[in-house]
Parts: sequence; C-alpha cells; structure tokens
Amino acid sequence: MENRSSNVTWHERRLTRDDYQRRNGHGSLVLWFTGLSGSGKSTLAQLVEEQLFQQGWYTYLLDGDNVRHGLNGDLGFSEADRRENIRRVGEVSRLFVDAGVVVLTALISPYREDRDRVRALFGPADFVEIFLDCPLEVCEQRDPKGLYRKARAGELPEFTGIDSPYEEPLAPEITINTGRHGVEECVVRIISYLRQHSACWRNRTLAAPVVAA
Ligand code: ADX
Repeated sequence: MENRSSNVTWHERRLTRDDYQRRNGHGSLVLWFTGLSGSGKSTLAQLVEEQLFQQGWYTYLLDGDNVRHGLNGDLGFSEADRRENIRRVGEVSRLFVDAGVVVLTALISPYREDRDRVRALFGPADFVEIFLDCPLEVCEQRDPKGLYRKARAGELPEFTGIDSPYEEPLAPEITINTGRHGVEECVVRIISYLRQHSACWRNRTLAAPVVAA
C-alpha cells in the first residue's frame, strides 16, 4: 500500500506489549480463521473465544460481517476491496496483539497473498492460520444467510466460491474439515493446538475445553 502520510514521527511508547502481557498474565497472538462463507468461521471463533474468555484471558473477535458495518463499511467485494478489508483487519489485529490481547478474526480472506502479508506483520508464533476446509457443496447446503441461493440465481455477483475465487492456504497451522467434524470436536482441536504450543502462553496454563457431552 502506498503510504500517503508524511511528516509523521513514530513515538516510542513507555508501555510495551511485554508490559501488557505481563499484566494480563498471558501471551498475545492472532487466531486467523479463513474459509468459505458458511464454513463455520464465526461459529468456531466465538466458541474458542468463549473458552479463553471464561479462563480469564483477554480476547477480542473481529468478525468480517461486523467490521463491515463500521470500520470497513466503505468496502465492497471486489478484489481490491477485499484486499483492503484484510489489510485493515490485519493492522487492527496488530494493535490488539500489541495491547496484549488474543485476537480472533473471522473473514473469508480469500487471497493467499493478503493473508501472508498479514502474517508478515507478526512474529512466527503470533499468527495462527486456521483453515476451515469445508467443501463448497456443504457450505452451499448450509447456506445460513441464503446468500449461495442468491448467488446461484445471479442476484449476488462476485460471491466467493461461485464466481469469485478462494485460494486455500498452503501451510496453515491448523486445518479442519468442518464438513466432517462436529463443532465441539473442532473447538477441542483448536484449544489442543494452543495447549501444545504453550510457548505462546508464558507460564499460564490453559485448561482443556469444557464442552457439552
Ligand atoms: S472477505 O472476502 O473480504 O474476507 P468478509 O469475511 O469480510 O469477506 O465478508 C464476508 C461476508 O459478507 C459473508 O459471510 C457474507 O455474509 C457477506 N457477503 C456479501 N456479499 C458477499 C460476496 N460477494 N462474497 C462473499 N461474501 C459476501
């Protein structure tokens, strides 16, 4: 992106990410959910966030649909607008991580290059890409918002998976086929990943998820 800001000076802050993390008692990072519409991004991100929140972690969920109501309300679904959408949410995530918060994002984020560009904003352990690998047929069958039906009827152009591309991640930290596995199993898998990669979590332990039987 061209940076049009000039005559601006970076101010070193007295409080650092480390200070925030120490105060919060845990590390901060991004859990970046990506996948087709209807693949379960919002659902899973909410449930994972709840698990962390209930254990006293500082968390925040940036959901594409919600962010597009405000911060990104000026963006549509052209390739350029989606790219800007991802760039902005990446930058906002960086601010949250800097503030010691665990950020969860739920955006289709269809372009590999954009996701990788966001990844490059973070340290290697601080960006966890979670690919919800759900077949288009399954997403289309779920069609929770009726958008696939509209897209097939030609009423919604540039719909991801129909006439707009989705580029699968090549090396995501976590891949889950949400067409094959139930919601609770998916939550367990994500929390297990976080428990195993405990380097991110300092001395604080993370309990296994409490899910209904
Ligand atoms: S992204 O491609 O820029 O990452 P984002 O996740 O913010 O998309 O928004 C996707 C949501 O916008 C979908 O869940 C759906 O509700 C809505 N939407 C509206 N039009 C489209 C479209 N053409 N393609 C995909 N999603 C759309």
